[in-house]
Amino acid sequence: MAKRKTAAVILAAGMGTRMKSALPKVLHPIAGQPMIRYLLNTVESVGFDRVVVVVGPEMEAVAAAVQPHAFVVQSDRLGTGHAVAQAGPALADFDGDVAVLYGDSPLITSHTLQRMGNALQREPGPAVVVLGFQPRDPAEYGRLMVPLAEKSVAEESGGQLDAIVEFREATPEQRSVTLCNSGVMMADRARLFAWLSRVDNANAKGEYYLTDVVGLARGDGLSCAYVVAPETECFGVNSRQELAQAEAMVQERLRNAAMDSGVTLIDPGTVTFCQDTRLGRDVVVYPHVVFGPGVTVADGVVIKSFCHFEDAAIRRGATIGPYARLRPGAEIGEGAHIGNFVEIKKATVEAGAKVSHLSYIGDGRIGAGANIGAGTIFCNYDGFTKGFTDIGPGAFIGSNSALVAPVSVGAGAIVGAGSVITKNVSADALAVARGKQMEVTGWAATFRASKGEKK
Ligand code: UD1
Ligand code: CA
Repeated sequence: MAKRKTAAVILAAGMGTRMKSALPKVLHPIAGQPMIRYLLNTVESVGFDRVVVVVGPEMEAVAAAVQPHAFVVQSDRLGTGHAVAQAGPALADFDGDVAVLYGDSPLITSHTLQRMGNALQREPGPAVVVLGFQPRDPAEYGRLMVPLAEKSVAEESGGQLDAIVEFREATPEQRSVTLCNSGVMMADRARLFAWLSRVDNANAKGEYYLTDVVGLARGDGLSCAYVVAPETECFGVNSRQELAQAEAMVQERLRNAAMDSGVTLIDPGTVTFCQDTRLGRDVVVYPHVVFGPGVTVADGVVIKSFCHFEDAAIRRGATIGPYARLRPGAEIGEGAHIGNFVEIKKATVEAGAKVSHLSYIGDGRIGAGANIGAGTIFCNYDGFTKGFTDIGPGAFIGSNSALVAPVSVGAGAIVGAGSVITKNVSADALAVARGKQMEVTGWAATFRASKGEKK
């Protein structure tokens, strides 16, 4: 039997009032990536054939963020059932199963989606599969009603589902049920939208409940089923506190994935990754390091404590930090060394070069094997334009030098400490640009003696 096609409908029309934000809730980043992107990545990795995102009015930013996937606008927010129904026309020609996902519950895994799909396709199969979970605090989640006989055996693996009762409608006895509705649901496209057209809003909230689909399927004499996932996968973000909790869960996943792929984290809980952080094997990360977006680290790199990176690439065997800052466009070559209190922006440090202490390197290149002395500054900005500084391979820049861009220092040249370099330096030359040292013999002793007399 050919595998059935699958479509995802992602609900993202909620305003996210409790976030108290100008940014739509699903665009708030978790590990540097908009929340909605997690679901898109997951459905893409499972290989869903179609994706439709339901956005609210004036949510062009969300529509743009989900491209190239389709979106539909839910003009009035009349409930989860109404929201899904908005995707009906966009999927009218679609023959297969539809999974409903919530944009603000981004942590569901592809494994769980596959388990739901398998449950739906079992023969003789259920008509609807719902994702349940056992939250530590069942709060006001909808409750899953399962046949008494099944309860003890099935809660982990899943099983037959009698009904979903919304918290507001639930009796005290029903509220005591701890198996809750995550909101994620799967059913055949044609059946799902037929049921949705029959859902009404005669309930406590006056909303069109997606959950009513289960009752309608059962009324049609069909069976429904549920699958259980860990609470972490069903976690919903409604507030900044929940956003922080989701961030913590994603960070834990990222740290574990890094360690599983051969990275040593000395104190994992203190290291912050982005979803797109790429780390090679035998990378060692000391405590308190922040990886912003766009960072790639090759094999064998050592990153000492208190570093901050964004949009930077670090090649094999380099050592960075402690206290180094790599800003967008920093490229650190193989075996190079970047030491403490060094900031690098839009600059390439070639293989084996060293910038060990207290430097600003912006808009430039440091050739292979060059040595940049403590306190060197690339003066890249004159208040109007940025200039480029080019340091040739094997050059040596004395401590506390200022290189006023645009300027170049040739290969193998030496710049004397404390120089302000404004003109290009030839290869293998010495350039010194500072006041000449003079000496007055005995002056200090005479000075002290004269002061002593006056005391
Ligand atoms: C829903 C479920 C409940 C479940 C809970 C899990 C229903 C009726 N109830 O309740 O059983 O335990 O989720 O979190 O489905 N949305 C829209 N348009 C709408 C309404 C909602 O896009 O008109 C989106 C929201 O942005 C959100 C999601 O759907 O992402 C869930 O909506 P919400 O109102 O939070 O549902 P709950 O009442 O929490
Ligand atoms: Ca909710």
